[in-house]
Amino acid sequence: MKLNKFIVVEGIDGSGKTTICNYIIYLLKCWNINNIIRTHEPGGTILAEKIRNLIKNSYKEFFSYKTELLLLYAARLQLLDNIIKPNIKDYWIISDRYDLSSYAYQIGGRGIQKKDILFLQKFINNNIIPNIVIYLDVNPLIGLQRIKNRNKDRIEKESIKFFTNVRKYYLKIANNNNMIKIIDANNNLSNVKLLVKKILFNFIKS
Ligand code: TYD
Repeated sequence: MKLNKFIVVEGIDGSGKTTICNYIIYLLKCWNINNIIRTHEPGGTILAEKIRNLIKNSYKEFFSYKTELLLLYAARLQLLDNIIKPNIKDYWIISDRYDLSSYAYQIGGRGIQKKDILFLQKFINNNIIPNIVIYLDVNPLIGLQRIKNRNKDRIEKESIKFFTNVRKYYLKIANNNNMIKIIDANNNLSNVKLLVKKILFNFIKS
């Protein structure tokens, strides 16, 4: 049995992360695994949830991309120090987003330099690497169509071009990292679930 059990679900807005996080937790419980912590980014602690609201709201001033980045990392540090690090040895941690989101959204989407992200990763001492990242790959046209009736937040209101760039960056990293499992999430939810089940099952028995 593995020491850490940290599973992250990633994807652009509208890729189905919430449904798949629910499903992962359902599966684990079916397999009699009940020591589970579910979390998400940005957020997951009292302070990090406040930062999440700051990030998601729109303002009558330009929201500098570097301000956004710093807030995201402040929220991440709160989550790491209060939830992830103290519990990672004893609990399965299932997170809706983690640091891959910063690479995809801030580098791919916003054009922040990779070296700035690497600096922040080091600055917050982020040495916790997920055991599995499930990346739900979806065409932004389909993703945005799925969330079109939502009350959209500041980032969800971004253009197709923005999400196309975010997706490209996700794929660029995922294609070069065995720990990241790419799942085609454009069509059938039951197929996605089947693949997720396989991935989890293989992880548990390895
Ligand atoms: P998300 O959790 O997908 O929201 P919801 O639960 O409402 O679907 O939204 C968080 C937003 O923050 C999402 O648009 C992506 C963005 N984000 C980044 O840009 N960078 C990051 O590092 C993280 C964690 C999130």
